[in-house]
Amino acid sequence: MPSITYGGQSYLCRAQESVLDCMTAHGVTIPSSCHSGLCQTCLMQAVRGNIPAAAQAGLKNTLAAQKYFLACSCYPEEDIEVALPSAGTGKFSATVTAIQPLNDDIVCLQLQTDAKLEYKAGQFINLYKDAFTARSYSLASVPDIDEHLQLHIRKVPNGLVSQWIHQALNVGDSIDISEATGDCFYTEDKPDQSLLLIGTGSGLAPLYGIIRDALAQGHQGTIRLYHGSETVESLYLADELRSLSQRHRNFVYTPCISGSMVPPGYASGMVADVALRENPDLSGWRVFLCGHPAMVDNAKKQAFFAGASMRDIYADPFKSALQNNAAEQAQTAA
Ligand SMILES: Cc1cc2nc3c(=O)[nH]c(=O)nc-3n(C[C@H](O)[C@H](O)[C@H](O)COP(=O)(O)OP(=O)(O)OC[C@H]3O[C@@H](n4cnc5c(N)ncnc54)[C@H](O)[C@@H]3O)c2cc1C
Ligand code: FES
Repeated sequence: MPSITYGGQSYLCRAQESVLDCMTAHGVTIPSSCHSGLCQTCLMQAVRGNIPAAAQAGLKNTLAAQKYFLACSCYPEEDIEVALPSAGTGKFSATVTAIQPLNDDIVCLQLQTDAKLEYKAGQFINLYKDAFTARSYSLASVPDIDEHLQLHIRKVPNGLVSQWIHQALNVGDSIDISEATGDCFYTEDKPDQSLLLIGTGSGLAPLYGIIRDALAQGHQGTIRLYHGSETVESLYLADELRSLSQRHRNFVYTPCISGSMVPPGYASGMVADVALRENPDLSGWRVFLCGHPAMVDNAKKQAFFAGASMRDIYADPFKSALQNNAAEQAQTAA
């Protein structure tokens, strides 16, 4: 059984136990959010010993070279000594410049960073409520278009960070955010490729950024956005997207309603089903999927079976640790 040394104490790590699980089981708090290797909130550094390669998946080469790793994806094979990144590593200080409602549940949070943050529309940052509590939010802003960072944040019932943002955060407040990460963004290498974008709820955030970025970069291929929600009221930015589609003939916006009241002008059904029904052959397409994890998983499979190459499918499931635990418990019970 390998041991993990942290803060001068050593802990035995059981088989199938990640560094994060081992620390948590011993009452040691390590910042974390998704528990599935996506958000990079649980970044740690190996001071001694070797880290399995899988624990560095998705990290920038510069971080991997300094033996940074993700504690939730690290299953040690030998004794290691680990540390949290030194204060300030990869963090930016930001000031809240606006908090605007987009609908009853979602606000647009605008932030101005003290130092320039390099990012691409559609990537995500981690936003810190305090030193140990962070959540990931996708960037709806486009660096060359928008002056400030823009995030669309949905109020999750009993959600620690989203409720705090909706209820306690004010314009002028200073918060910490991480640098931007993730591969869900537009690249201009194939300007004629058709793009399919599917999102639920605040999953529109990265897609809104990606579409405006692609159009600003002169993308010529078809761009089809399907945004799904249960009711008309819970969709948002519909007028802006309709106006964008009037200004760009290659951009088509389809709002989808999964509930029973579907007025004219809206597609009826689950957003991924509607999108795949209307676009049954995705050979050669690039696909972006963001929002509810079940929708993203399902749409990924459907897009692959419709001919999209896995290399051309970019997905950001909005996972949270607590949702993962609930899903795991359901699987165990089944
Ligand atoms: C890569 C990535 C990008 C993301 N981008 C965005 C974004 O742009 N906008 C955005 O609003 N969110 C986004 N999220 C989700 C976000 O990180 C948080 O998980 C979410 O805000 C809930 O955090 P919380 O602290 O408020 O809730 P928690 O305190 O973590 O959870 C409270 C309760 O709510 C449940 N819960 C948590 N999340 C959800 C959910 N999404 N739906 C339903 N129930 C939930 C939990 O199971 C728990 O019971 C993203 C997640 C990832 C991994
Ligand atoms: S990557 Fe480890 S908690 Fe998200």
